[in-house]
Amino acid sequence: MSKLNNKFSRRAFMAGGSAMAAVALSGIGNRAQAQSGNEVNLYSGRHYDTDRTIYEAFTQATGVKVNLVEGKSDALMERIKSEGSNSPADILITVDAGRLWRADQEGLFQPVSKNEAPNLYSAIPRHLRHRAGHWFGMSQRSRVIMYNKELVNPADLSTYEDLADSKWRGKILIRSSGNIYNQSLMGELIELYGTAGAEDWARGFVSNFARKPTGNDSAQIRACAAGEGHIAIANTYYFPRFARKDDPAEREVFQKVGVFFPNQRGEGALGRGAHMNVSGAGLVKSAPNRANAIKFLNFMATANSQEIFAKSNSEYPVMSGLDLDPILDSFGRFKGSKTNVEALGRNNPLSIQVMNNVNWDQG
Ligand SMILES: [Fe+2]
Repeated sequence: MSKLNNKFSRRAFMAGGSAMAAVALSGIGNRAQAQSGNEVNLYSGRHYDTDRTIYEAFTQATGVKVNLVEGKSDALMERIKSEGSNSPADILITVDAGRLWRADQEGLFQPVSKNEAPNLYSAIPRHLRHRAGHWFGMSQRSRVIMYNKELVNPADLSTYEDLADSKWRGKILIRSSGNIYNQSLMGELIELYGTAGAEDWARGFVSNFARKPTGNDSAQIRACAAGEGHIAIANTYYFPRFARKDDPAEREVFQKVGVFFPNQRGEGALGRGAHMNVSGAGLVKSAPNRANAIKFLNFMATANSQEIFAKSNSEYPVMSGLDLDPILDSFGRFKGSKTNVEALGRNNPLSIQVMNNVNWDQG
């Protein structure tokens, strides 16, 4: 067994039951076997138990068994590439439009047409999916400003653009430039202001860092609560986790920090709304169970699946009018940017270049 294989847990969901049976690693490693049954092979970079509720419901509704391979998104993409045309993968689920775009650039996806999967086109807004159906956003997250309630008056917060102003000198916490969420945020600014305009902004923004970027989004939120900086940039779904922790110190972080959705007002680009990104799925180019995979994608774009998929990671569904995770809902309603998430990926190489040019990781 390769080192890579050890990283994956593999489970099969049996039709009509919730019992999960671990299947041998060879279970879907062989394309002939992969095609033999009424099944679909799902490679997922998400790892939430509640996602499995959807897979079980799909099996109950269609009789199609879901074989799940979980792993880190980048490792799963590498795996599909190395498996080549023999890959048993039918669907790849991963997070961030930047990653979905990269997977598409690597040739991992094939299109799904409107005729084949009408739900995908009617339920998912145009700006949250690939224009030719290579991948589809399945849940949304916003990358927002979080602030220390004792140190910041939210009336002083307004836009991402404003964070380049010298009034924020030494106050901003954010993770490193290697992180895809930051690259995607930069990708939207490049889309709006061009590379030179975005670089100007980034230069001011980086000069306001409270410290050299370190740790993940949760680490920025903790440092913000501790007063190491006044504001943190983080994805919305990280914050509700603090409210649910057993550790009182973690729950205190939740009390000390507020959520601010930027760019809610103003003309043109300034009033575009908060930066949005997606978790999404695409049909793998060599999918051995194409028809079942399309059935599955269509099933993901139904109200019930959407609600479960979004709630499992405190995200926003891509369909409107559905129930939200109550803690996420408590942050309030807001306007999300309608910039097509494809642009976040398309601009990714430029984003990395801009972040290098402004020495993002030196803070
Ligand atoms: Fe994350």
